[in-house]
Amino acid sequence: MLVMILAALPYKPSAATWGGRPVRARQGMVASTHEIASRVGVEILQRGGNAVDAAVAVALALAVVHPAAGNLGGGGFMLIRMADGRASVIDYREMAPARAHRDLYVDEKGDVIPEASTVGHRAVAVPGTVAGLALALEKYGTMSWADVCRPAERLAREGVVLTHFEAESLKRAARLLERFPESRRIFLRDGRYYQEGELFRQPELAETLRRLIEHGPREFYEGETARRLVAEMEAGGGLITLDDLRTYRAIEREPLRTTYRGYEILTVPPPSSGGVALIEMLHILEGFDLRALGHNSADYVHLLVEAMRRAFADRARFLGDPDFARIPVKGLTSRRYAEALRRTIDMKRATPSAALAPGDAFAYESEHTTHFTVVDAMGNIVANTYTLNGSYGSGVTVRGAGFLLNNEMDDFTSKPGVPNMFGLMQSEANQIEPRKRPLSAMTPTIVLKDGKPYFALGSPGGPTIINTVLQVILNVIDFGMNLQQAVAMPRVHHQWMPDQIVYEPFGLSRDTMEALRARGHVFVERPRSMGDVQAIMIEPETGMRLGASDPRMDGRPVGY
Ligand code: DON
Repeated sequence: MLVMILAALPYKPSAATWGGRPVRARQGMVASTHEIASRVGVEILQRGGNAVDAAVAVALALAVVHPAAGNLGGGGFMLIRMADGRASVIDYREMAPARAHRDLYVDEKGDVIPEASTVGHRAVAVPGTVAGLALALEKYGTMSWADVCRPAERLAREGVVLTHFEAESLKRAARLLERFPESRRIFLRDGRYYQEGELFRQPELAETLRRLIEHGPREFYEGETARRLVAEMEAGGGLITLDDLRTYRAIEREPLRTTYRGYEILTVPPPSSGGVALIEMLHILEGFDLRALGHNSADYVHLLVEAMRRAFADRARFLGDPDFARIPVKGLTSRRYAEALRRTIDMKRATPSAALAPGDAFAYESEHTTHFTVVDAMGNIVANTYTLNGSYGSGVTVRGAGFLLNNEMDDFTSKPGVPNMFGLMQSEANQIEPRKRPLSAMTPTIVLKDGKPYFALGSPGGPTIINTVLQVILNVIDFGMNLQQAVAMPRVHHQWMPDQIVYEPFGLSRDTMEALRARGHVFVERPRSMGDVQAIMIEPETGMRLGASDPRMDGRPVGY
């Protein structure tokens, strides 16, 4: 009887749940991977700035306080939804230099040259961050460029006290950074590593930010900063020219939209694969009663993995820069296509990835990127993911300018059939071409309920980003978890190739894993943690802003 009554009630978890509770604030909230950056955003909001003003200031502050992924020398995607209903994606993904070509990273024999696309000057794509932030501010912000740059300039000039997390991160990057004298000098203090609690000042970066304040964002692409970047390229054999910088443009794109169990989903289109894959998986999974299966049960994980496998196989086959190849976005995100895929899932057996398409299993690895989310008092929302690709990118710091450059060229297909540093297989749609954008997995996403913003989120983690965002959405919508718990819950990942399930330490019980093995699933040898979600919900009943930072890393939501 009791069971029947409970089943009839709307699904509501108890308020105090395992995994913690979100931070609450009445007006505005910033969730980012560094408390100082979150505070910078809130300061801007309190001074009357909107979510976009705050987002630009947070992005610039992260470039100072979180140099592994926060950046001036990288790129990303900003998903904006204004309170009046306008929604937009600012695509500031990096671009291949004009001199790049399909065989840039293969030798005469046609073999991929180790590290060529991941370390050093030749791995660097034309940075988009400054152009993207400037475009977002110009179209949707209210404050001046100088005003949103100032907090970052101050942090670089006056220095920040290094957290344990950041000091350890710098030490862990020593092997990469010590290969480049300027990086070694700035980030490793010439081998006398920074310790937690020490003041980390970045005078060259402060100077670069001062130039940006004084001359505006084009300075990065046409001024002294551009000249220094190109001098660095010339000294180290990189490909980027002044012309590449001068002609770089951030692009405004239409968000992808769908619904999932009545909730509206807004997410990013190509050249990220994230939105397409997320929608494909949501459509497949909508046909099952996930809640009835039980969170992280064998049946649930089986279905997740089968959806992931299919979406990632399509990613590998079809996706690339839409400005260069025709991408079947409509087909991949159609419900009828998802129905067809759903019918190929066998509840009792794992579908071997090789049966979906030919391919090879290879190593899997993840590094660094960062996501932050901002909600202001008006209800404007920004979800922004940006990156240098690997932790500290290519390892190259622009001499005299104090910022690191990305290794985003590795997100292209160096050679079809050979996986990149994330073990991702990709097709010709993502081959290197001059001025093309490499395929991304970044997935900043906003969920609406009854036409009103409900929650927004995103994560780093290379290919795991997409599956991380998927699982947090399911945790909220299907399982009714509070936002913090939804973010904390153990996650799984499958990316078609290699044909194996990545899981987190203590994330799945042995029984569950045995049950999945019996259906033919294979697990990675060593579990590892994935993602660093930064999410904000607008509580439907109260309008309160609820912030959630992933316990896997060091972030903190700050609200007011
Ligand atoms: O755009 C992409 O998909 C990758 N460059 C993201 C890299 C990443 O997330 C590394 N993170 N942990």
